[in-house]
Amino acid sequence: MARVSRFGDASAMVLARAPIRPPRGNEVVVRVTHASLGATDLLARRGGYILHPVPGFVTGYDFVGELLTESAVSLALGLRSGAVVAGVLPLMGAHATFLTLAPTLLVAVPPGLDPATAAVLPLDAITAAHALELAGPARSVLVQGASGAVGALAAQLALRTGATVVGTASARTADRVRALGAHVVDHTDRDWPALVRQAAGGAVDAVIDHTGTERDRDVLAADGVLVRTGFAGRAGHERSDALRGAAAAARDRRERVCSAPLYVATRRNAYRRTLARLLADAADGSLRVAEPLVQPLADIWEAHRAAEAAPAGAKVVLTTA
Ligand SMILES: NC(=O)c1ccc[n+]([C@@H]2O[C@H](COP(=O)([O-])OP(=O)(O)OC[C@H]3O[C@@H](n4cnc5c(N)ncnc54)[C@H](OP(=O)(O)O)[C@@H]3O)[C@@H](O)[C@H]2O)c1
Repeated sequence: MARVSRFGDASAMVLARAPIRPPRGNEVVVRVTHASLGATDLLARRGGYILHPVPGFVTGYDFVGELLTESAVSLALGLRSGAVVAGVLPLMGAHATFLTLAPTLLVAVPPGLDPATAAVLPLDAITAAHALELAGPARSVLVQGASGAVGALAAQLALRTGATVVGTASARTADRVRALGAHVVDHTDRDWPALVRQAAGGAVDAVIDHTGTERDRDVLAADGVLVRTGFAGRAGHERSDALRGAAAAARDRRERVCSAPLYVATRRNAYRRTLARLLADAADGSLRVAEPLVQPLADIWEAHRAAEAAPAGAKVVLTTA
């Protein structure tokens, strides 16, 4: 398993061994074969993530693997040992070889979907889908960072509803957003809010944002909804800035905070339905998924460096093979 030994750069990662925890009750054991390494893992390693404020934790939210054991609940869910399963954990810990967990966290990976590609999806797809659910019905949506892992999925899901979608991206990654069918606005342009209004034909009904910027309000309709999936924060103050941002959001009737881990922890049936549906969409090609950049867990340091340098449209996937 890959642990954060102290907050810092890739050299802060250590590989550790621990015995497989025996299942309790209806828990099952999964042998992890693939697990994504994304922006939240990098943030957590640097010490900027509010849900893991103390070093010593194992990184990784999502995974694909082989079910090694069964229980009454796994069988009731149609999950037998040998099944290829995917899931999101309510707290990090997926960068490991074995996981002992509730079978209600698992869904079957559709046949035909390559496990490395499937591993790119769970956390980001659940985040994107939940963010849009929180936004509610919208005729127009601004997706900040629509060339990113979460943003590209949010833009696709919003486009499916028939909404006009404006996505922000730098000039470097704008083509990726355009290819999805969204309007593109450069987030480095000082006047991006005016450009968003122009592209959307007025104020938008919903904003999906991972930056925490106050300027989102300049593009939001009076009865619109602003969904925060993250708060970029100042360097060295990411956790306190995120807490401040979340507190401000809680005070504003137009703002919602989208937390995939909380959704997984509290809305288990909806989570499983959503993940199964989006994996099926990836399998039949109706949802574009980032390209997996497969790296061995055994070289976690190189994998972190690769994640830091990953181009838009690609995401590192650790493999234990
Ligand atoms: N709430 C949750 O449960 C949850 C779950 C997963 C991830 N997250 C968070 O969501 C955020 C995004 O994750 P990700 O994996 O999608 O990251 P990512 O793949 O690195 O994408 C980041 C995106 O942000 C864009 N960007 C950079 N600066 C920007 C700015 N000032 N304004 C608007 N867009 C900007 C980038 O575009 P350019 O490269 O073109 O600049 C890129 O498209 C992270 O903070 C992550 O921790 C939250």
